[in-house]
Amino acid sequence: MQPRCAVNVCHVLMLVLCLSAGEDFDWTKSNHGSFYYGTFPTGFSWGAGGSAYQTEGAWDKDGKGLSIWDVFSHKKGKIQLNDTGDSSCEGYYKIKDDISLMKELRLNHYRFSISWPRIIPTGVKSDHVNEKGIQYYDELIDHLLENNITPIVTLYHWDLPQILQEKYGGWQNISMVNHFNEFANLCFEKFGDRVKHWITFNNPWSVAVEGYETGEHAPGLKLRGTGAYRAAHHIIKAHAKVWHTYDTQWRVKQKGLVGISLSGDWGEPVDISNQKDIEAAERYVQFYLGWFATPIFHGDYPQVMKDFVGRKSVQQGIGTSRLPAFSPQEKSYIKGTCDFLGIGHFTTRYITHRNDQPGRGSNSYFTDRDLAELVDPRWPDPGSEWLYSVPWGFRRLLNFVKTQYGNPMIYVTENGVSEKMMCTELCDEWRIQYYKDYINEMLKAIRDGVNVKGYTAWSLLDKFEWDEGYSERFGLYYVDFRNKNKPRYPKASVQFYKRIISSNGFPNQREVENWRRKSVEMCSSSNQLLAAEEQRSTAANILRLIHDPLTSHMEMVTEIVVPTVCTLSILISAVFLMFLLRRRN
Ligand code: NOJ
Repeated sequence: MQPRCAVNVCHVLMLVLCLSAGEDFDWTKSNHGSFYYGTFPTGFSWGAGGSAYQTEGAWDKDGKGLSIWDVFSHKKGKIQLNDTGDSSCEGYYKIKDDISLMKELRLNHYRFSISWPRIIPTGVKSDHVNEKGIQYYDELIDHLLENNITPIVTLYHWDLPQILQEKYGGWQNISMVNHFNEFANLCFEKFGDRVKHWITFNNPWSVAVEGYETGEHAPGLKLRGTGAYRAAHHIIKAHAKVWHTYDTQWRVKQKGLVGISLSGDWGEPVDISNQKDIEAAERYVQFYLGWFATPIFHGDYPQVMKDFVGRKSVQQGIGTSRLPAFSPQEKSYIKGTCDFLGIGHFTTRYITHRNDQPGRGSNSYFTDRDLAELVDPRWPDPGSEWLYSVPWGFRRLLNFVKTQYGNPMIYVTENGVSEKMMCTELCDEWRIQYYKDYINEMLKAIRDGVNVKGYTAWSLLDKFEWDEGYSERFGLYYVDFRNKNKPRYPKASVQFYKRIISSNGFPNQREVENWRRKSVEMCSSSNQLLAAEEQRSTAANILRLIHDPLTSHMEMVTEIVVPTVCTLSILISAVFLMFLLRRRN
């Protein structure tokens, strides 16, 4: 999920945009529409991804411990339709099946995450290491490599061991830094001979804001104004520690890379001639991506965050800033702890300045920013409420990263679009359009000089979408969650993405148009398969509905009516007998 809270402040605005037609590759000009035909640098890595809790299922199998998401999703009212990730895509049992889907796409890499409680059930390494969990990831990694697919492995995609939450308060507590480091060190030891791309945290913004500020995500805490900042502070320290562990203990031997995956929407000023809007848009990006990227690349929080949170804290009569501070030693320890930067990007917002007057108790991460978010109602939004397709924002964000952080090596770790649950349409032309346009903007960014080395389509499969449950489908492959075998069906976008990968880009207009036509043609057979399967399962459900009342009727007859009638008959016979006997006497 993205900033749903932000949607509260996100009024739909009819924007009259004066788009000036610019030339290609000058990203400061608003050449939003043009398409660029060309190819990616040789060796560019194409991938798809998923994460442990979203896809594995097997939540309580083979010695796995509980995570905060297991517990959160089992509480009523937290997730759409009270869905859980208990079985999800059953990925735990489908390594080979899923790798054959990746082969079909000709992926160069697959991004997945390791479930911390699957390999360390209590979260504390000295308590117990679960060998079966290690075996599962060993097998997954080995099979990927046998098929020439590079594993890109995330250590933390939100599934903190529950015990660490209960005992210490999770990321509110500094002790997480050491526990996480132990877990990461174990992963380096067990898998680092084969895994060369490590991501410490996935989207820490979400962990901090949605987990500890708004409470929409596990662990569901609403510590407004302080919880997110404190969680983020510990996460940044934990990231740095793990990077140093790798650097000092494993790098020479294993020769891998350790990065972090940050998510960020692009923020565009509503009025590009208004200085206040320009600053507000910059603030939006700094409070989002910059919150984590600036300490990691420059050693401290963005100045604008320190200024705004500090000033608001003073206005609220709080002695020190709600934004914690790094000591000089910490700053130099954190600075430069990134071998590559993972970028997860989905959408863009228009931003305008707005004064949010602080009031006691009403302070929050969101009001600290003094801005309002707006969307253009003409932007396509095929799925998730927050996800508008705005491809040009992607190029701008990538260029922002280049200029702000010294042109680091970038892997796009997430980019994609969803559709609504009830949509069983496999001919997902809107997803083809989204991928085509976003990948094209990434190509333009590379031409701008941004150092993007790989791209990860999000996601390989439809999967558990956090607080949205299964109601939003991001997959290239459709998963039939009603069927306990969780069969996968290719959507049309599989064919399209596969062709981008094979051609390493967009050769020319005629071919790209052909791809689209063929993809949509081919998906009709999968549509028929899925429709047939749906008819079969609908028929089975109807039969079950018919059968169920019959069964319960029979059960009532045998379990209640028959014994009651028997007992009554015995009683009546006894009374009658006694009556006869009395009369005789
Ligand atoms: C970012 C999260 O990292 C990912 O798990 C999720 O599926 C996407 N956002 C889409 O909501």
